[in-house]
Order: sequence, then C-alpha cells, then structure tokens
Amino acid sequence: MPKYLIYFAQAYPNFRRAELESLADLYGIEIDLSHHDESNPFIVVDLESDDAAKKIMSRSILGRGIYELWGSGKDLDELHKNIKESVDIETKIKLYKNGSFKFDFVGYKGKRDVKVRREMIESFSYLAFEGPIRMKNPDEVFVVVEEYVVPGHGKIAETPINMWFGRQIQLSSRTENILDKYDLKRRKYIGTTSFDAELSLVSCNIGQVAPGKVVYDPFTGTGSFLVAAANFGGLPIGSDIDPRILRGKSSQCNIPTNFKQYKTDSLFLDILTMDFTNNAFRSNFVIDSIVCDPPYGVREGLKVCGAKDPAKAVGRENVVIDGEKAHLRKDFIQPKKPYELSNLLDDLLQFSSERLPIGGRLAFWMPTANDDFEENFIPQHESLELVYNLEQEFHKWSRRLLVYVKRDATEYKGETSNGLKSNHIKHFRDRYFKGFSEKSR
Ligand SMILES: C[S@@+](CC[C@H](N)C(=O)[O-])C[C@H]1O[C@@H](n2cnc3c(N)ncnc32)[C@H](O)[C@@H]1O
Repeated sequence: MPKYLIYFAQAYPNFRRAELESLADLYGIEIDLSHHDESNPFIVVDLESDDAAKKIMSRSILGRGIYELWGSGKDLDELHKNIKESVDIETKIKLYKNGSFKFDFVGYKGKRDVKVRREMIESFSYLAFEGPIRMKNPDEVFVVVEEYVVPGHGKIAETPINMWFGRQIQLSSRTENILDKYDLKRRKYIGTTSFDAELSLVSCNIGQVAPGKVVYDPFTGTGSFLVAAANFGGLPIGSDIDPRILRGKSSQCNIPTNFKQYKTDSLFLDILTMDFTNNAFRSNFVIDSIVCDPPYGVREGLKVCGAKDPAKAVGRENVVIDGEKAHLRKDFIQPKKPYELSNLLDDLLQFSSERLPIGGRLAFWMPTANDDFEENFIPQHESLELVYNLEQEFHKWSRRLLVYVKRDATEYKGETSNGLKSNHIKHFRDRYFKGFSEKSR
C-alpha cells in the first residue's frame, strides 16, 4: 500500500487518533495509527489510495495535511538519496511529468529563507518535471516538510532534524480556515454555555456525523453541536428544557440565524423545548448520532419536569383558568424539580441504546475532578461499547469526551454500571466553586 505522511496541528494531540480512526471507520477505510506518538505532529501511514487520504483529511480538524510520501531523511542529502532509491520513483515521475506543478515548504518550529528555498527547489531537478510551473491552482503541489527543534527559549532553529518530500494530497479543513469561520467570537448567537468551536467540530467527527444522517443534541443550549454537525452535512435536531435559550436573543440572533450565518440552514431540522427525561420523540424516529454536553450544574441547572414536593401538587391538574385546564394552556409553565446527574446520564445511555442504529455513536462530555477520578466513574451500558475516553485537562479538573458505539445485542454484552453513583460528579459543582480545595467524600 502507498505510504502517506500526515502532519497534525499542535492542538489536542490526545484526540488526534480518535478523530482520524473515526473518520476512516465512517468511510470504510483501513488505517493503523497504533504507532502515533502524541508528542510528535508527524506520522507515516499506509492507505489504500489518494481517495482514502482525501476523504479522511478533508474533514479533519486536528490534522493539517496529508502527503503521498516520496522519501524522507535526516538532512537534504539523505532525503535525495532516499527518494532516488525508492522502488517506484520512476513510475511516480512519469505520472506527473507533464502536469503543471509548484513546490511548497512546510516547517514545524522552523523555516528556510526564500534564497535557501530556491536552492533547495533546484536540488530536485533530477525529478525532471516538464510541465509548467503554476503558483495558482497547479495540478500538483510537491512539498518539502521539515521538523525543527528549537534549541532554547528565544532561539531560532537553524537546521531541521527530519525532512520528508511528498505530493500534497489534501489539506485539512483546519488549514482551510474552518476554525475562523466557526469561531464563537464571530458567531451571532452565543451564550455562557456555548461550546468551543474546535472541540464541537472534533466531537462531531468522532461522533461520526455524516451527510444526510440525523444528529440529535438533547441538551442543545445555544446549539454549538448542531451547527458543527451541519458543517459535515448532518441533519441536526435539538431539544432543551429551557425555552429561553432555544428562543435566543431576538429574531435576528438565535439558533436558526446561526445556521443562516453558516449557510447550512437547509440542513437544520428543528429545535424543541423538551425535558430529556420525558422524551417525546416517537420511538421509531431514526437518530444516527447523539452528540452533546449534558448539564453539570456549573453554568446551567439540571432540572426535570415535575413537582419538587409531590404531596403539595396533588389536585393541581384540576386547576381551571378561563374554562381551560391550566396545565393544558399555552402559557402554562411546567414546575421543575432537581434531578441527579447520575440518573440523567443513565437515561442518556438507555435512550441511546434504544434509538441508535447498530454502529451508531453517542459522544458526550463529562467533567471530572483530577484528584479523585477513577476509570469506573464512567457510566456504562450493556449494549454500548465505550470506544474513547478523551481527556481535556484544565488546572484542577478535566472534561472527558466519552464515545460509545451501539452494538448488536446478539453479539455483544458489556457491563451496565453507573459510575457516577459513586459520588464523583454529584459533588463536581460544589468542588468546582470551591476551587477543588476539598476532596469529595
Ligand atoms: C452544558 S449546557 C449545553 C450547552 C450547549 N452545548 C450549548 O452549545 O450552549 C446544558 C443544557 O442542558 C439543558 N438542560 C438542563 N436540564 C435539562 C433536561 N432535563 N432536559 C433537557 N435539557 C436540559 C440546560 O438548559 C442547558 O442548556
């Protein structure tokens, strides 16, 4: 199989493998990333074709680009030697002999000046491409990729420690500036709960949001995951218990206007006010992916519909206003009661196990205090396989993207356990506001 060099961004290195594996799996592409080293932004992989490489990288947020590998070396001489000795170099040269082309340079932690670049390009003259050089839209871009190590604070790296040469196959959506486009600072409608754009997009990639597939966020808030899902062609539908957050600030500043801003309004299905624990979707409504950020009580309350004190509520269903039962009137505001997060996550896993197709994914974020986290705090369901537990660390706490795949019950039986009953998250809110100074008991 041909070899390809992947160049990653220096962001969330522990999420890279999950993102690319999830995209490869979505497109039925084989990829082995087991040798990925989080401290290194480069990896060489075998892939079946340029088409496979394009599919994976075009959607990637954490990758920068992918290149068909022609050779590698510690320095320019070694690089040239390696290219010349590669078995299929003649075939490769023939393929691109007459097309238009240009040379480009990618440097990690260092770069060459223009004069040196020109000399380096000359040194590749043995490739003897005969097509025209075109700086704009050439047929092929040949790239020298270099890795430098900065010798010390304030110092500049002079020579690279590794070099690769390859044909550019695909730059990622990150390189094409998707993060600018979705930056919360430029989004019309945001709120205190809006989720970071980069990680929303990454969550949708790992959640295998796909064109024409329904994506549900049961805790929509300002709709961060919904707009991210639509970017990948998903059909987003959301619900939230709080009608105000769904309504937005005005008719010009709300969730639908965000879709208009990104020109994805044709994909947007709907948003509805609904308590997730009293879910009103018909049972055969097909949901392909669930991607969300449940309420942890830090910036938003966790409430469900119901009376705090059921004894006091007895008979309230008989209250009549203007000849109409009060609870059936349009202006009726449901009483709400507090609910345990552990139960809400149980409900989320149960709902996902019932509604997702086999192979469908649930991806949700869960915060944890760093000093008393244990793997068994992660909730499990017997028909959902936990495939990723990806940590984003802050100072004293973390949040984890937990990703589950719905399995066929005839072939898979995992354990069902409610890790959070073990007290951990119950106290997350208290500990968050106390700066994690005391341990939960
Ligand atoms: C962490 S926020 C999600 C923020 C969202 N990702 C965004 O982009 O703004 C959690 C959301 O869950 C909602 N919520 C709380 N309890 C709920 C329930 N029982 N059912 C549905 N939504 C609920 C809150 O109103 C809040 O908007």
